[in-house]
Amino acid sequence: MDTKILQVSLGDRSYDIHIGTDLLDQAGALCRRALPRAGRVAVVTDSNVGPLYGTRVLESLTAAGFTPGLITVPAGESSKCLARLGELYDAFTNMGLTRTDAVVALGGGVVGDLSGFAAATILRGVDFIQIPTTLLAQVDSSVGGKVAIDLPAGKNLAGAFWQPRLVVMDPACLNTLTDDTFADGMAEVIKYGCIFDRDFLSRLAAAPSRAGVMGQIQSVLYTCCDLKRKVVEQDERDTGARMLLNFGHTLGHAYERAGHYETWTHGQAVAAGMCLAAGLGQRLGVTPAGTEKKLRALVTAFGLPAEISCSMPDYAAAIGLDKKGVGGDISLILLAGPGCAVIHPMKKSELLSLLEARI
Ligand code: GLY
Repeated sequence: MDTKILQVSLGDRSYDIHIGTDLLDQAGALCRRALPRAGRVAVVTDSNVGPLYGTRVLESLTAAGFTPGLITVPAGESSKCLARLGELYDAFTNMGLTRTDAVVALGGGVVGDLSGFAAATILRGVDFIQIPTTLLAQVDSSVGGKVAIDLPAGKNLAGAFWQPRLVVMDPACLNTLTDDTFADGMAEVIKYGCIFDRDFLSRLAAAPSRAGVMGQIQSVLYTCCDLKRKVVEQDERDTGARMLLNFGHTLGHAYERAGHYETWTHGQAVAAGMCLAAGLGQRLGVTPAGTEKKLRALVTAFGLPAEISCSMPDYAAAIGLDKKGVGGDISLILLAGPGCAVIHPMKKSELLSLLEARI
């Protein structure tokens, strides 16, 4: 597989995304090209990914003249917290990281978000490189510069926009994912087709299985990253077009929140959120009839839930539509057709009535 390269053009924050098999072994050479002056590199990984790929990446960085150190955090969302962030700061300072050095994230979205936020804030910001190893991180969180930790009051509440200097993705890393973790990433893959690319959606529907996607994985990753690249270039700070990436997310996050972030994974909640958004869009006359049915069939084929049952008061509270929050407006991302998302402002009270009729 020849490597495919995409450039995210953001002026002096531009960077390349490399997609190719066995790129983990070339990570050092690619990092050296992106960071000619860096010496020390703090490689942050987790307890699942470190044992699988840590040595390969460290050896590759050493061969390219870096002095790397591996820092391992426990796998799981609970590592995106202030305590782990503090531990990273300590580890960075103990290894003597300077402003010309760098942080590398080797792992999924939790590792990328946590170490990216640490990179954005240590010494007022050091260079950061993403080596995403899950499907979700490869198609979404490693691209676009959103980094964050969770606070007791909610997810991603302390964060920054901190673009990586380079993204290196090796599709072979996906072979070690469980089916559930692979499916989690597929929710975001399907989302890209729904919001931006009808042909891509048809390609996914024509081979609706993990094997079908892995048979064309480089092109799937390239398509998703290219679609995200375009929207990030247009709206880096998420005040306009980037909001379209939230299709299924406003409704999905509420399932996650109502389940206290334990019952449903992000991908499962987004899958059900997208189906719910398609159904609401049809009722509002924005989304063509039949869209919800096709979407439900597609997410189900990939092992994701097309609906999540939830008590209406819990769900309404989670989305901010409880009695105190029902005044004012909310924007939902809806589909005006396959591959065509629109921002749909509406009254919160209207959304509540629609949901009450539906859930
Ligand atoms: N994951 C959505 C975004 O990067 O804007």
